[in-house]
Amino acid sequence: MARSWHIGVIGGSGLAEGLGLDNAQEIAVESPFGAPSGPVTQGWLGGVKFSFLPRHGRGHALPPSAVNFRANIDALKRCGVTDLLSLSAVGSLQEAYAPGQFVAVDQLIDRTQGRVGSFFGPGLVAHVSLADPVCPRLAELLIQAARQAGGMVHPTGTYVAIEGPQFSTRAESRLYRQWGADVIGMTAFPEVRLAREAELPYAMLAMVTDYDAWREDAAGVEAAEVFAIMKANAALAREAVRAFAALLPSERVASPIDTTLDTALATAPAARD
Ligand code: ADE
Repeated sequence: MARSWHIGVIGGSGLAEGLGLDNAQEIAVESPFGAPSGPVTQGWLGGVKFSFLPRHGRGHALPPSAVNFRANIDALKRCGVTDLLSLSAVGSLQEAYAPGQFVAVDQLIDRTQGRVGSFFGPGLVAHVSLADPVCPRLAELLIQAARQAGGMVHPTGTYVAIEGPQFSTRAESRLYRQWGADVIGMTAFPEVRLAREAELPYAMLAMVTDYDAWREDAAGVEAAEVFAIMKANAALAREAVRAFAALLPSERVASPIDTTLDTALATAPAARD
Protein backbone atom coordinates (compact mmCIF):
# COMPACT_ATOMS: atom_id res chain seq x y z
CA MET A 1 0.00 0.00 0.00
CA ALA A 2 1.30 3.47 -0.83
CA ARG A 3 1.89 5.84 2.06
CA SER A 4 3.46 9.24 2.59
CA TRP A 5 7.13 9.88 2.90
CA HIS A 6 8.51 10.96 6.24
CA ILE A 7 12.21 11.59 5.85
CA GLY A 8 14.56 11.26 8.79
CA VAL A 9 17.83 13.14 8.50
CA ILE A 10 20.84 12.57 10.74
CA GLY A 11 23.16 15.53 10.33
CA GLY A 12 26.86 15.37 11.03
CA SER A 13 29.52 17.97 11.74
CA GLY A 14 28.49 21.40 10.49
CA LEU A 15 24.77 20.63 10.33
CA ALA A 16 23.87 20.73 14.01
CA GLU A 17 21.86 23.92 13.45
CA GLY A 18 19.39 21.96 11.37
CA LEU A 19 17.89 22.06 7.93
CA GLY A 20 15.79 25.21 7.98
CA LEU A 21 12.52 23.23 8.04
CA ASP A 22 9.21 25.08 7.67
CA ASN A 23 6.97 25.16 10.78
CA ALA A 24 9.76 23.52 12.74
CA GLN A 25 9.00 22.09 16.17
CA GLU A 26 11.41 20.53 18.58
CA ILE A 27 10.32 17.37 20.36
CA ALA A 28 12.08 15.29 23.00
CA VAL A 29 11.76 11.63 22.04
CA GLU A 30 12.34 8.96 24.66
CA SER A 31 13.87 5.65 23.73
CA PRO A 32 14.30 2.47 25.77
CA PHE A 33 17.85 2.42 24.36
CA GLY A 34 18.82 5.58 26.26
CA ALA A 35 19.16 9.21 25.29
CA PRO A 36 19.33 10.16 21.61
CA SER A 37 21.92 12.79 20.61
CA GLY A 38 19.35 15.54 21.17
CA PRO A 39 15.77 16.57 20.56
CA VAL A 40 14.28 15.83 17.15
CA THR A 41 13.28 18.82 15.03
CA GLN A 42 10.20 18.10 12.94
CA GLY A 43 8.97 20.25 10.09
CA TRP A 44 8.23 20.38 6.40
CA LEU A 45 10.03 20.99 3.13
CA GLY A 46 7.82 21.37 0.06
CA GLY A 47 4.97 19.39 1.61
CA VAL A 48 7.17 16.52 2.82
CA LYS A 49 7.54 15.81 6.52
CA PHE A 50 11.08 15.72 7.94
CA SER A 51 12.52 14.74 11.31
CA PHE A 52 16.06 15.97 11.94
CA LEU A 53 18.55 14.79 14.54
CA PRO A 54 22.05 16.25 14.99
CA ARG A 55 24.34 13.21 15.32
CA HIS A 56 26.85 14.86 17.63
CA GLY A 57 24.27 16.79 19.66
CA ARG A 58 23.98 20.53 20.12
CA GLY A 59 27.33 22.27 20.03
CA HIS A 60 28.98 19.05 18.85
CA ALA A 61 29.22 17.68 22.38
CA LEU A 62 29.38 13.96 21.50
CA PRO A 63 32.48 12.27 20.02
CA PRO A 64 31.74 9.44 17.55
CA SER A 65 32.27 6.71 20.17
CA ALA A 66 29.74 8.33 22.55
CA VAL A 67 26.90 8.68 20.04
CA ASN A 68 24.00 6.45 21.10
CA PHE A 69 23.29 5.14 17.62
CA ARG A 70 20.55 2.77 18.80
CA ALA A 71 18.68 5.54 20.58
CA ASN A 72 19.00 7.81 17.53
CA ILE A 73 17.60 5.26 15.08
CA ASP A 74 14.93 4.15 17.53
CA ALA A 75 13.85 7.76 18.21
CA LEU A 76 13.47 8.48 14.49
CA LYS A 77 11.58 5.22 13.96
CA ARG A 78 9.21 6.18 16.79
CA CYS A 79 8.64 9.53 15.04
CA GLY A 80 7.23 7.56 12.10
CA VAL A 81 10.14 8.08 9.73
CA THR A 82 9.89 5.96 6.56
CA ASP A 83 13.34 6.60 5.06
CA LEU A 84 16.62 7.84 6.45
CA LEU A 85 19.26 10.19 5.06
CA SER A 86 22.69 10.54 6.59
CA LEU A 87 24.65 13.73 6.00
CA SER A 88 28.26 13.24 6.99
CA ALA A 89 31.69 14.83 6.72
CA VAL A 90 34.37 12.53 5.30
CA GLY A 91 38.04 12.58 4.44
CA SER A 92 39.16 11.60 0.94
CA LEU A 93 41.28 8.55 0.13
CA GLN A 94 41.36 9.25 -3.62
CA GLU A 95 42.77 12.22 -5.53
CA ALA A 96 39.55 12.50 -7.57
CA TYR A 97 37.36 13.01 -4.48
CA ALA A 98 38.27 16.60 -3.71
CA PRO A 99 37.34 18.69 -0.65
CA GLY A 100 34.01 20.45 -1.16
CA GLN A 101 32.61 17.65 -3.32
CA PHE A 102 29.79 15.25 -2.41
CA VAL A 103 29.79 11.45 -2.50
CA ALA A 104 26.68 9.23 -2.59
CA VAL A 105 28.26 6.42 -0.59
CA ASP A 106 27.12 2.98 -1.81
CA GLN A 107 29.44 0.57 0.05
CA LEU A 108 30.98 0.59 3.50
CA ILE A 109 33.73 -1.09 5.52
CA ASP A 110 33.55 -1.25 9.32
CA ARG A 111 36.69 -0.62 11.35
CA THR A 112 34.93 0.71 14.45
CA GLN A 113 35.50 -1.10 17.72
CA GLY A 114 33.20 -1.99 20.58
CA ARG A 115 30.11 -0.05 19.53
CA VAL A 116 26.75 -1.67 20.18
CA GLY A 117 25.80 -2.67 16.66
CA SER A 118 22.43 -4.41 16.87
CA PHE A 119 18.96 -4.13 18.31
CA PHE A 120 18.87 -7.92 18.53
CA GLY A 121 20.53 -10.29 20.97
CA PRO A 122 19.83 -13.25 23.24
CA GLY A 123 16.10 -14.00 23.14
CA LEU A 124 15.57 -12.56 19.67
CA VAL A 125 18.20 -13.27 17.03
CA ALA A 126 18.08 -11.73 13.56
CA HIS A 127 20.52 -11.73 10.64
CA VAL A 128 19.66 -8.96 8.18
CA SER A 129 21.37 -8.68 4.80
CA LEU A 130 23.76 -5.75 4.37
CA ALA A 131 25.09 -6.68 0.94
CA ASP A 132 23.46 -3.56 -0.46
CA PRO A 133 23.56 -1.26 2.56
CA VAL A 134 22.20 1.77 0.72
CA CYS A 135 18.77 2.19 -0.87
CA PRO A 136 19.44 2.92 -4.57
CA ARG A 137 16.21 4.87 -4.98
CA LEU A 138 17.11 7.31 -2.18
CA ALA A 139 20.71 7.51 -3.43
CA GLU A 140 19.63 8.38 -6.98
CA LEU A 141 17.35 11.14 -5.72
CA LEU A 142 20.13 12.47 -3.47
CA ILE A 143 22.57 12.55 -6.39
CA GLN A 144 20.13 14.47 -8.58
CA ALA A 145 19.24 16.79 -5.71
CA ALA A 146 22.82 17.61 -4.78
CA ARG A 147 23.62 18.32 -8.44
CA GLN A 148 20.58 20.58 -8.75
CA ALA A 149 21.80 22.42 -5.66
CA GLY A 150 25.07 23.10 -7.49
CA GLY A 151 27.24 20.42 -5.89
CA MET A 152 29.77 18.21 -7.65
CA VAL A 153 28.62 14.66 -6.78
CA HIS A 154 30.39 11.32 -7.11
CA PRO A 155 27.57 8.80 -7.66
CA THR A 156 29.38 5.94 -5.91
CA GLY A 157 32.00 5.57 -3.20
CA THR A 158 33.19 3.13 -0.57
CA TYR A 159 33.34 4.52 2.97
CA VAL A 160 35.61 3.10 5.66
CA ALA A 161 34.48 3.87 9.20
CA ILE A 162 37.19 4.20 11.85
CA GLU A 163 36.68 4.41 15.61
CA GLY A 164 38.34 7.81 16.01
CA PRO A 165 38.28 10.31 17.53
CA GLN A 166 41.86 10.58 16.25
CA PHE A 167 42.44 10.78 12.51
CA SER A 168 44.37 7.91 10.89
CA THR A 169 48.09 7.36 10.67
CA ARG A 170 49.66 7.56 7.23
CA ALA A 171 50.09 3.76 7.19
CA GLU A 172 46.42 3.21 8.02
CA SER A 173 45.35 5.68 5.40
CA ARG A 174 47.46 3.92 2.74
CA LEU A 175 46.02 0.56 3.86
CA TYR A 176 42.42 1.76 3.41
CA ARG A 177 43.28 2.91 -0.10
CA GLN A 178 44.56 -0.60 -0.85
CA TRP A 179 41.25 -1.96 0.39
CA GLY A 180 39.49 0.09 -2.26
CA ALA A 181 37.98 2.67 0.08
CA ASP A 182 37.32 6.13 -1.36
CA VAL A 183 36.32 8.10 1.72
CA ILE A 184 36.79 7.83 5.47
CA GLY A 185 34.65 8.82 8.43
CA MET A 186 33.83 7.87 12.02
CA THR A 187 30.06 7.46 12.21
CA ALA A 188 28.49 5.36 9.44
CA PHE A 189 28.72 2.26 11.64
CA PRO A 190 26.70 1.06 13.41
CA GLU A 191 24.18 3.60 12.05
CA VAL A 192 23.74 1.85 8.70
CA ARG A 193 23.35 -1.58 10.35
CA LEU A 194 20.75 -0.31 12.80
CA ALA A 195 18.78 1.48 10.08
CA ARG A 196 18.48 -1.85 8.24
CA GLU A 197 17.43 -3.64 11.41
CA ALA A 198 14.80 -0.94 11.94
CA GLU A 199 13.55 -1.61 8.38
CA LEU A 200 14.51 1.92 7.31
CA PRO A 201 15.89 2.41 3.78
CA TYR A 202 19.11 4.46 4.22
CA ALA A 203 21.28 6.62 1.99
CA MET A 204 24.28 8.78 2.70
CA LEU A 205 25.36 12.07 1.20
CA ALA A 206 28.93 12.55 2.35
CA MET A 207 30.76 15.82 1.99
CA VAL A 208 34.52 15.63 1.47
CA THR A 209 36.22 17.99 3.91
CA ASP A 210 39.90 17.02 3.54
CA TYR A 211 42.41 14.67 2.00
CA ASP A 212 43.27 11.99 4.56
CA ALA A 213 46.88 11.31 5.58
CA TRP A 214 47.95 9.17 2.59
CA ARG A 215 49.40 11.97 0.46
CA GLU A 216 53.20 11.83 0.60
CA ASP A 217 54.17 15.47 0.88
CA ALA A 218 51.03 16.88 2.45
CA ALA A 219 50.45 17.67 6.12
CA GLY A 220 48.11 15.39 8.12
CA VAL A 221 44.43 16.17 8.65
CA GLU A 222 43.59 19.11 10.91
CA ALA A 223 40.17 19.34 12.57
CA ALA A 224 40.02 23.09 11.87
CA GLU A 225 40.32 22.40 8.14
CA VAL A 226 37.48 19.85 8.33
CA PHE A 227 35.15 22.25 10.17
CA ALA A 228 35.97 25.19 7.91
CA ILE A 229 35.03 23.25 4.75
CA MET A 230 31.95 21.81 6.40
CA LYS A 231 30.80 25.24 7.50
CA ALA A 232 31.43 26.71 4.08
CA ASN A 233 29.37 23.96 2.44
CA ALA A 234 26.58 23.46 4.99
CA ALA A 235 24.26 25.71 2.98
CA LEU A 236 24.83 23.52 -0.08
CA ALA A 237 23.96 20.39 1.90
CA ARG A 238 20.76 22.06 3.18
CA GLU A 239 19.87 23.10 -0.38
CA ALA A 240 20.43 19.51 -1.54
CA VAL A 241 17.95 18.24 1.07
CA ARG A 242 15.40 20.85 -0.07
CA ALA A 243 15.86 19.73 -3.71
CA PHE A 244 15.58 16.09 -2.56
CA ALA A 245 12.16 16.85 -1.03
CA ALA A 246 11.00 18.42 -4.29
CA LEU A 247 12.11 15.35 -6.28
CA LEU A 248 10.24 12.77 -4.19
CA PRO A 249 7.32 11.15 -6.02
CA SER A 250 4.03 12.07 -4.37
CA GLU A 251 3.25 8.52 -3.25
CA ARG A 252 5.74 6.31 -1.48
CA VAL A 253 5.97 2.66 -2.48
CA ALA A 254 8.26 0.08 -0.89
CA SER A 255 12.02 0.45 -1.37
CA PRO A 256 13.53 -1.52 -4.30
CA ILE A 257 15.70 -3.38 -1.78
CA ASP A 258 14.19 -5.63 0.83
CA THR A 259 14.58 -3.89 4.16
CA THR A 260 12.00 -6.04 5.94
CA LEU A 261 12.79 -8.40 8.78
CA ASP A 262 10.48 -11.09 7.38
CA THR A 263 13.24 -13.52 6.52
CA ALA A 264 15.84 -12.29 9.04
CA LEU A 265 14.46 -13.54 12.36
CA ALA A 266 16.18 -16.75 13.46
CA THR A 267 14.57 -17.34 16.86
CA ALA A 268 11.46 -19.54 16.80
CA PRO A 269 8.32 -17.59 17.84
CA ALA A 270 7.84 -19.77 20.93
CA ALA A 271 11.40 -19.02 22.11
CA ARG A 272 11.22 -15.22 21.67
CA ASP A 273 11.47 -12.98 24.74
N1 ADE B 1 35.79 13.12 8.90
C1 ADE B 1 36.19 14.13 8.10
N2 ADE B 1 37.46 13.92 7.66
C2 ADE B 1 37.87 12.74 8.20
C3 ADE B 1 39.06 11.98 8.12
N3 ADE B 1 40.10 12.39 7.38
N4 ADE B 1 39.12 10.81 8.80
C4 ADE B 1 38.07 10.39 9.53
N5 ADE B 1 36.92 11.07 9.65
C5 ADE B 1 36.82 12.24 8.98
